[in-house]
Amino acid sequence: MNILGIETSCDETAASIVRNGTTILSNVVASSLKDHIKYGGIIPEIASRRQIELINAVAKSALEMAGLKLKNIHAIAVTQSPGLIGSLLVGISYARALCFAAQKPLIEVDHIKAHLYANFLNDSLKDKPRECSKINLPPETTKPNRPLSKPLLPAIGLVVSGGHSCLYYIKDLSHFELLGQTRDDALGETFDKVAKILNLGYPGGPIIDRLALKGEKCSLRFPCAELPGNFDFSFSGIKTAILYYQQDQKTKSEFSVPQIAYAFQESVISVVVKKCLQACFNKKVKTLLVGGGVAANSMLRKKLKQETAQYTIDLFFPPTALCLDNAAMIAGLGYHLLKK
Ligand code: KG4
Ligand code: ZN
Repeated sequence: MNILGIETSCDETAASIVRNGTTILSNVVASSLKDHIKYGGIIPEIASRRQIELINAVAKSALEMAGLKLKNIHAIAVTQSPGLIGSLLVGISYARALCFAAQKPLIEVDHIKAHLYANFLNDSLKDKPRECSKINLPPETTKPNRPLSKPLLPAIGLVVSGGHSCLYYIKDLSHFELLGQTRDDALGETFDKVAKILNLGYPGGPIIDRLALKGEKCSLRFPCAELPGNFDFSFSGIKTAILYYQQDQKTKSEFSVPQIAYAFQESVISVVVKKCLQACFNKKVKTLLVGGGVAANSMLRKKLKQETAQYTIDLFFPPTALCLDNAAMIAGLGYHLLKK
């Protein structure tokens, strides 16, 4: 069964075709990120206007790259929420119109849960032509960096993205229990804001990730709230601590920017890793799934690998391209919802 997925929750306009919930036949992502960089964050109106311009070409490319026609598609899955309201409207309106015209079922998919579903996708794209003929889209690489074994449920799911930080208990693909979430900033948002304070550019996550590799351990420490006794997160305090630290230093900090980046990253990631393990122990599960843009972070990957290995917890991360927003995860989860 071939599902066409449509994703337009933030700055990306994405379409993908996934067969039987696991095999990616095409995965096209066009981003308007460069139009937002000068503002230091996503401007919703710019994002949705670009999405209106791109959505039809992106969906056509996804069909073309999969070598399929609309008649070969069994259903259309679309991101229903959460996201920027104007952007969501573009994807939902497009998907509804296409379903109405082609008489296909429409499946509405939750974006956050779909981030965790990315761990169930196989990537078979590396053998296929990646060119996109009509529009100038960068071809996406989704090389797998994990064995192709599938996660066993129940599992704990951590979603850390630009807009969300949540911990779920996943009984099965239609039962996600929210255990905790951020009380203020999302983790990706915190990376972006800290990068802004340090004058590093946008989006800040990948920049801090790279810089922190050059910063060694030092006496610099920034506290991150632990909120003991529950699975919520709070990242706004550490962001403010770094802002005050920078203001206090006035001209030059005693520590280098890579050291500040390292100290920040170390602190937030320690709290996130601790909460993931506590959730696994509490729910007595042996599988941990991670998703969302911050799942691409190298220190998070390394620390979670080290810690889960000690307790024989099976850890799953999607390949980097599938950590970020994409429509394959929407089509994949959509398949299971349709079957249900
Ligand atoms: O999942 P995503 O593409 O969009 C949302 O649904 O929000 O996540 C984007 C977020 C941004 O905040 C970006 O800074 C962060 O993911 N991010 C990273 C890394 N790559 C992207 N954060 C930390 N380390 C990275 N390597
Ligand atoms: Zn996302």
